[in-house]
Amino acid sequence: MAADLSPIDKAKFLAAKRATDFVEDGMKLGLGTGSTAAWMVRCLAERIREEGLRVVGVPTSSRTAQLATQLGVPITTLDEAKWLDLTIDGADEFDGNLNLIKGGGAALLQEKIVATASDQMIVIADAAKDVTQLGAFPLPVEVIPFGWQTTKALVEETLVSLDVLNRDVTLRMNGAAPLVTDESNYILDLHLKRIGNPRQLALVLNQIPGVVENGLFIDICDIVVIGHADGRVTVRDVNSGEIEEDRVEFVPTSNIFADLD
Ligand code: A5P
Repeated sequence: MAADLSPIDKAKFLAAKRATDFVEDGMKLGLGTGSTAAWMVRCLAERIREEGLRVVGVPTSSRTAQLATQLGVPITTLDEAKWLDLTIDGADEFDGNLNLIKGGGAALLQEKIVATASDQMIVIADAAKDVTQLGAFPLPVEVIPFGWQTTKALVEETLVSLDVLNRDVTLRMNGAAPLVTDESNYILDLHLKRIGNPRQLALVLNQIPGVVENGLFIDICDIVVIGHADGRVTVRDVNSGEIEEDRVEFVPTSNIFADLD
């Protein structure tokens, strides 16, 4: 199975594997959502199996909860855990200040609550997510279904006075019906192409009635671990300014791929 990994999956796997080095015995962890975070859950499960690592995770989606349970990673709720040591999650884009766009997998609300309730957030990503300016990836905004068309109109009107390049807003669909999040809300995708002032945009969007949360993570992420398909892994710490590069061994026979067979 491992030998069949695409270069992008290999990069995601390496980032996830390196990030799990930050996990220490006894930690309470936020478990992110998405394909990269799924690799992290697999790597964590391997450390639990092979080293007897004791951790408990708070999943950020029903999908992650299901995967963690399937792989034997103990989970709990945020209300039980109350505060977390570390959250490890993917991202759709990150910039030089480690501000993020998240929500491509529609889990941004739980992801933001969980990351904010953590001492530290580590983002794991392939190098394609590294951007000089956020906005090429459509910005997800979670809205309540009641009056969503009015909320969409208000979002469009608000964007007129903001520093963005484009202002198309679309409702995310799941086939013929609107996609419904784990919190029973809808997602608007804002096709902005370039976000000049992410901090201002995040604040202004959350002032609109009907908006629950937006996918801009500002000053939440501490470290990004970037995987490269050639085996290199870059660790960038926004607080210390340090950048480390090393190689992570790719072990094709690992039973980490067991659930994918
Ligand atoms: C989930 O809602 C997102 O925030 C994901 O973390 C993000 O979309 C990254 O997903 P991939 O790891 O699948 O690229």
